[in-house]
Amino acid sequence: MASETRSGATRDYTLTVVDDYALLSALAADAVSETLAQTPGAALTLPTGDTPLGMYSELVRRIDAGELDFSQAQFFCLDDYLGSTPEDEASLTRWLKTVFLDPARVPEANVHYVPTAAEDPVAAAAGYDREIAHFGGLELAVVGLGPNGHIGFNEPGSGPDDPTRIVDLQPATRAQSAAYWDGKADIPAQAMTIGLGTILQAKRIVLIVSGEGKAEIVHASLEGPETTDVPGSFLRRAGDRLEVILDQGAASKLEM
Ligand code: PGA
Repeated sequence: MASETRSGATRDYTLTVVDDYALLSALAADAVSETLAQTPGAALTLPTGDTPLGMYSELVRRIDAGELDFSQAQFFCLDDYLGSTPEDEASLTRWLKTVFLDPARVPEANVHYVPTAAEDPVAAAAGYDREIAHFGGLELAVVGLGPNGHIGFNEPGSGPDDPTRIVDLQPATRAQSAAYWDGKADIPAQAMTIGLGTILQAKRIVLIVSGEGKAEIVHASLEGPETTDVPGSFLRRAGDRLEVILDQGAASKLEM
């Protein structure tokens, strides 16, 4: 396993390119461990999707080994489908519970669910941002990058000041989501996501991307112009609060 830290004259974020997925997962888990070692009651958000699976396994391993204490962390779910509840088959919250929250024994009282089933979801989305602020803002946001450049469910069209809100999902995102359940799940047309603006205020942001299939969108996000067509392009605004961890495939179209 090897990692290489690349530096470039025009960049103030950290870019680490690793040889394999295990190392990417371990480095992402390190960011969580470091955050909680410094601030045991930190508010944090971690992503869903295929990319973070290795990170979650590593976090559960560390918790089981007594190396990581998650008992005080305030866990804010990143996104889920509008109207969904953890009972729904395709709920991302349900997915998170299965993959991480339950095996890690994160206290239920410390888990904040995206209020997708609220009676007034617009007001509840604003309330979710207030809840994050109440816990001191996000100490850490680990995020993935969608094939269309989305961050969480901040789809193309999203901007750097966007709060937590309801968003329309692109057909490609719905298809990507359905694939997590072997294409069998019925994915709603709308979702609620922590806003890109809320994420950009986090004290530490870690972007993890794996595989050659994402190389082009990684290039667009890190080396293309800032544009709402590629919400990931706004992450660079976080400057040195941003750490990007890529494997060789995801980094393969970077120019530097
Ligand atoms: P993935 O999804 O990890 O399953 O590739 C990332 C994302 O869409 O944010």
